[in-house]
Amino acid sequence: MSRIVYVNGTYLPEEEATVSIFDRGFLMADGVYEVTSVLDGKLIDFAGHAARLDRSLRELDMDSPVTTEELLEIHRRLVAENAIDEGLVYLQITRGNPGDRDFAFPEPGTTAPTIVLFTQAKPGLADSPAAKKGIRVISIPDVRWGRRDIKTVQLLYPSLGKMMAKKAGADDAWMVEDGFVTEGTSNNAYIVKGSRIITRQLGNEILHGITRAAILRFAREAQMEVEERPFTVDEAREADEAFITSASAFVMPVVEIDGQVLRDGTPGPVARRLRELYLDEMLKAAV
Ligand code: PDD
Repeated sequence: MSRIVYVNGTYLPEEEATVSIFDRGFLMADGVYEVTSVLDGKLIDFAGHAARLDRSLRELDMDSPVTTEELLEIHRRLVAENAIDEGLVYLQITRGNPGDRDFAFPEPGTTAPTIVLFTQAKPGLADSPAAKKGIRVISIPDVRWGRRDIKTVQLLYPSLGKMMAKKAGADDAWMVEDGFVTEGTSNNAYIVKGSRIITRQLGNEILHGITRAAILRFAREAQMEVEERPFTVDEAREADEAFITSASAFVMPVVEIDGQVLRDGTPGPVARRLRELYLDEMLKAAV
């Protein structure tokens, strides 16, 4: 069944949705995005995603075509029109179509940004079989640009990373720079030593995950110890547990790193508890 999507102020069937070939998102990856998950037909942490979107736009000197209130309304209407119970809403804003290809940004006020939103249904998102089994990751070099804190649509290297993982018979890849893990291809990376949760500190090297912020808050509220610092692949291979977080994976246990099985190869208690805590708390606050 065809979806209803949103393009520049209009709700329409996906087959009728178009964007110009001159759009800078298409030609230059000059755009930012957000992914917000939907559980029980409600948006998880919409406020967090809206705040990060504003920051990404500001960092790139890009205008937003909509207010946060309008954005919430668009998200809700798409969830309702497409009858999404479990799934996600994808949002992208680009610097628009200046009429020609040019490296320089268009003069301020001359080019309207492009905004596109669509839904993806993902039945079984919360009760995911992968979360019960855990995933296997490999490590790969991090060769992305230096502003990974901005959520841009430049996703070619993360795509290549997922393909490298697939080829190696793994589920995902952790990227490594100067000897330390930065993050997963589309998620933040964590290890657990004893009862301590260790994850890289915020900076330009990683995306400031919205799920990461919530997880660290819940962990601290539950008196769990959190250490924000870089870690190596060797340290991770010897950890008691590992996991990743993202808006679409929530908390996903990692049971193997570069062929080294962690624990007995099953999800650990810290990752399991954090996943439960996250889903419980976020469902209560969903809008
Ligand atoms: N990815 N790091 C990277 C590189 C990411 O692409 C993502 C999200 C995260 C986790 O951020 P959050 O918790 O805010 O989702 C970390 C999304 C889900 C995606 O590209 O589909």
